[in-house]
Amino acid sequence: MTATAPKQQENPLAEGLALRRTPDPCALVIFGASGDLNHKKLMPALYALAVRRLLPQRFAIVGVARTEGDDESFRQDMEAAVKQHARDEFRQDTWDELAPQLHYLSTDFADTSGEDKVHDLLEKLDEDEELGGNRVFYLAVPPPAFPTIVEALGKRRDDRGWTRLVVEKPFGHDLASAQQLTATLLEYFKEEEIFRIDHYLGKETVQNMLALRFANGIFEPIWNRQFVDHVQITVAESIGIEARAGYYEHAGAIRDIFQNHLLQLLALTAMEPPIDFTSDSVHNEKVKVLRALHTPGPKSVVRGQYGRGFVEGEEAVAYREEAGVAADSVTDTYVAAKLYVDNWRWADTPFYVRMGKRLARHETTIAIQFKAAPHPPFEEAASEGLRPNVLVVHVQPDEGVSLAIGAKVPGQGMTIRTVHMDFLYGGAFRTGMPEAYERLILDTMLGDSTLFTRADEVEEQWLLVDSIVAAWQRDKPAFPNYPAGSWGPPSADELLHRDGRSWRRH
Ligand SMILES: NC(=O)c1ccc[n+]([C@@H]2O[C@H](COP(=O)([O-])OP(=O)(O)OC[C@H]3O[C@@H](n4cnc5c(N)ncnc54)[C@H](OP(=O)(O)O)[C@@H]3O)[C@@H](O)[C@H]2O)c1
Repeated sequence: MTATAPKQQENPLAEGLALRRTPDPCALVIFGASGDLNHKKLMPALYALAVRRLLPQRFAIVGVARTEGDDESFRQDMEAAVKQHARDEFRQDTWDELAPQLHYLSTDFADTSGEDKVHDLLEKLDEDEELGGNRVFYLAVPPPAFPTIVEALGKRRDDRGWTRLVVEKPFGHDLASAQQLTATLLEYFKEEEIFRIDHYLGKETVQNMLALRFANGIFEPIWNRQFVDHVQITVAESIGIEARAGYYEHAGAIRDIFQNHLLQLLALTAMEPPIDFTSDSVHNEKVKVLRALHTPGPKSVVRGQYGRGFVEGEEAVAYREEAGVAADSVTDTYVAAKLYVDNWRWADTPFYVRMGKRLARHETTIAIQFKAAPHPPFEEAASEGLRPNVLVVHVQPDEGVSLAIGAKVPGQGMTIRTVHMDFLYGGAFRTGMPEAYERLILDTMLGDSTLFTRADEVEEQWLLVDSIVAAWQRDKPAFPNYPAGSWGPPSADELLHRDGRSWRRH
């Protein structure tokens, strides 16, 4: 118990960041412990929580997968994962405290004795470590394995302590499968015990959208159709599909990003102020936005697929040439759309959204473009270089917020130019940004589902996606239609040009 306090406490601006409640004693059972997500995200996040002493004092992590192994080999494997992927420098003393809390079970849930093995181990840990029967079950397995594991867990449920079930994305493939999955979960778990992950919601900058809007009196009065010309949301990735062709061929950008991250960003941008920050109040406001989304017509949606090109100076193959992708695949790797939120606040204000793979740059931003000043009293030539005000939330990278404003160029004449007022997280708080999974894992242990998605939100999201995808069945797209390393197909530019607007410059 010798780990020193986290560095962030030395910074007065970061005061309060570490003042979170420590969760009750519990066991965290990770199904899919031998998988990619656990190695790259979950275990490094748990290590970061251990460094900051945010884990419960009495705690156990149980890794479950089919791969052969035991406690010792699992601890070694996880130590290597932490060394490779954790955001903090490796500290032997912290690891030596955490490692004995790690346990491993090799079992296949298709085999009926799987749940007995897990149940027996948890009973033993409860007794040895006094965990009070509290459990978090984390489903980090491929979605086809969800129902089998949930049914097995449900059958062995007892009422000692609390139970929480974390379900990774994707949550269903369409509305019907999402409803079916929710029905299976609800057979054994209550909605408040179910934590559907959309890891974007765990990102600091996404939560900062709530702080920006609801902790500052100056934005809310102008956050509406009267003052906002339009909103642009960009989720751009420069990477391709890496080794995920099996998943991506059936998902595409519309299911991989639009259905979850993109629509959640839009909901947080457009929602009404909740009466408080309880999870139900926040979910209630978000779901109203999702319900108010107008289904876009075919002319308001652009889909694309990348061809060969150069990304960040490296040659990139076309999507259809990626390993595991069909040579005539019509899977979308890019989607842009013009969406409307049909309510009093936003009627007739377009939300232009775009997302894609193999784009020029890795970037997620939400840009609120305000209307131009009604009557600039300057000569036209004086304000030639002036653009309307834009508030940009940089979700990643370069996390922060910037506001474009007009300012006088120093000198004798009156010349106005656009300049930027920037708030950069790293500069202001002088602390590393926590990974989304740190916050989300901690919240599941604390029972706070504010940053997770509720069943009705997921269903609204699928309803919209299903209607877009249904329209796509009718035509055969001419793919590829944008080169890797560009900003998407020309038709995405036309989508805005038709309205006399253009995508933000980068
Ligand atoms: N990787 C990411 O960055 C990422 C990001 C967002 C969401 N996700 C989601 O997270 C989940 C896991 O993804 P992943 O990338 O980690 O997948 P992965 O690398 O393929 O790992 C899958 C894991 O599930 C285990 N598993 C599969 N079927 C099982 C069964 N019947 N019984 C017990 N264990 C079983 C595997 O165990 P064995 O190999 O030992 O058999 C392995 O540990 C998926 O739902 C994925 O969509 C992943």
